[in-house]
Amino acid sequence: MASKRAIQARKPTTVRYTIRKHRVSRLKEDSVPNGAMSRPLQASLNGLDGLNQREQPIAAAASVALHNALRRYGVEGEDAFLVLASRYLDTQKACRRDFSFFPVERGFAALNIVAHDKQVLSILDGIVAGDPQGRDLATWYQFFFGRRFREGSGKFFTPRTIAAAMARLLPVQPGAILLDPTCGGGTFLCEASRRWGSTPCRLVGNDVDRMLVGLTELVLALSAPAHHDLEFSCFNLYDADAELRNLRGKVHGILANPPFSLPLERVAKPGELFGLGYRNSDALFLDVCLDLLAPGGSLVCLLPHSLIVNSEFEQLRRSAERHWELCGVVTLPEGVFYLTGNTTTRADIIQLRKKAGRQQQAHKAFFANAPTVGFPLNSRTTYFGENSLDLIAGDPRVLECINATA
Ligand SMILES: C[S@@+](CC[C@H](N)C(=O)[O-])C[C@H]1O[C@@H](n2cnc3c(N)ncnc32)[C@H](O)[C@@H]1O
Repeated sequence: MASKRAIQARKPTTVRYTIRKHRVSRLKEDSVPNGAMSRPLQASLNGLDGLNQREQPIAAAASVALHNALRRYGVEGEDAFLVLASRYLDTQKACRRDFSFFPVERGFAALNIVAHDKQVLSILDGIVAGDPQGRDLATWYQFFFGRRFREGSGKFFTPRTIAAAMARLLPVQPGAILLDPTCGGGTFLCEASRRWGSTPCRLVGNDVDRMLVGLTELVLALSAPAHHDLEFSCFNLYDADAELRNLRGKVHGILANPPFSLPLERVAKPGELFGLGYRNSDALFLDVCLDLLAPGGSLVCLLPHSLIVNSEFEQLRRSAERHWELCGVVTLPEGVFYLTGNTTTRADIIQLRKKAGRQQQAHKAFFANAPTVGFPLNSRTTYFGENSLDLIAGDPRVLECINATA
């Protein structure tokens, strides 16, 4: 009897999946014990990306264990991420839905490669159990992509502490349309969903990178409640024909960290700031947001510090003030994107409200300096730190500025 149990315990776990119109159904799964791994892994952080040690820590031991375990099957990079993402899909029934961008078939094909391995499944299930809403998935994505993803591509994710503080700067309105036009891993929309809570809203994510739209789609499918409608698209924000233009004049709130200061030679439809000669992505981003927002709508975004302080942008600032009310600026310290973006570019949080009419109205604005953001700056090695953004976002004087009606 004892030997029969031993044989059964060693029987490989079989999990096979079938996909119908991007709906996922599991055909057969033997039970997978949630216990300890059958054989200890020699874990070392050497050579691995430091993202597992940052302000959105994904468990260091789990990340090393998963990385090593998947490498034994030659599964790396995007496929390694898809294995984990598909295990979320498989186990979190709440997120069963039709996916337009997340590559469900490819994900389950990757998961099938390791689905017989109890050790791998145990690591995956431990990760999913520790973060059932998938809020760490963007960090995992960066972990598996490493520097190739970020360096020189302008593709990196905003640290969650900053995204959360920015979401708090949006005034909550029932039924609001909330957009991140360069949504990356969906961190802003995830935080907007948390801020809206029991209040209904429509969350719209767009990015030029299809895989990132898929990542946002998955993260929101896991984390957003049913009364938050979800919508996704994959368009070039700077293309005048982009379908995003369907939202023209309808959006109530935009949260974003767009690509900074990219020189743009020619665009399909130059807006006012671009037309002034500011031929870069920052000016065009402001033009596009003005076009998309409803009168009185709010833009809370990260933009280069130089835009706020350098004299070369004076004309841009003057012109912007004709269409926008400046609600506030939060100056961030240097180094907030050092780890995710490998850049020391300084950024500010800028809050603007689209004017409802042409007449000038007196309004209040806040100017705040945030010396700390919840994690150590210019560092790859430590975890949490003080977060002055929490104090700023909750300050009654700031709330007075953001809740003022246009
Ligand atoms: C700095 S990342 C920020 C991502 C995300 N909003 C966040 O903060 O985590 C900039 C994002 O803009 C996207 N992007 C770059 N150029 C774009 C374009 N022309 N249209 C739409 N998205 C674009 C990139 O793919 C990238 O995800």
